[in-house]
Amino acid sequence: MIPRVRTAVLISGRGSNMSALIEAARAPSFPAEIVLVLSDEPAAAGLPIARDAGVAAKAIDYRAYPKKEAFEAALDARLLAASAEIVCLAGFMRVLSPPFVERWKGRMLNIHPSLLPNLRGLHTHRRALAQGLAEHGCTVHFVTAELDAGPIIAQARVRVLKGDDADALAARVLKEEHRIYPEALNAVARSLRAANAPET
Ligand code: GRF
Repeated sequence: MIPRVRTAVLISGRGSNMSALIEAARAPSFPAEIVLVLSDEPAAAGLPIARDAGVAAKAIDYRAYPKKEAFEAALDARLLAASAEIVCLAGFMRVLSPPFVERWKGRMLNIHPSLLPNLRGLHTHRRALAQGLAEHGCTVHFVTAELDAGPIIAQARVRVLKGDDADALAARVLKEEHRIYPEALNAVARSLRAANAPET
């Protein structure tokens, strides 16, 4: 059997997308396995959730590192020790440096709560409502040095309803996030395995 693609998830908070990835990867036919969860925030609610699900989970407190390079070197060391091949950012709130991003080029994914290239950055639901958009949604993309601008892997659209507030809209978008992130990881893991498969 072809080994599954070893995948790490980076979080900063509640970790609901992380849970969706862990859940999807329970299926033996899923081409990736979640081998590690890392958080830059020790208080992240997602850490104990990952452990309860049987996944190794560790905080690397960004405050303990005076420089971003040292924090990222600690991240890389953990990823290497776990033999991670793909990194999924899931509500990870640190902007990663260009050299770190370059090392993971084509193997680092992010989920963003808007229909990119619209609404890069924070507070996307509030901004979608303020702009009177009829349609909103979420995007999984490869991470590049430019924030929220890498090649798009998957998107889901959500209609903005009359009477929506930011919380109601966020909840409907989040449901779609939990659907498309595992689908996107599935596709990327399959193509990574296909690219690395020995010729027969
Ligand atoms: C999600 O809305 C995701 O799109 C954004 O941050 C939020 C993280 O939520 N990048 P969770 O921690 O996965 O529940």
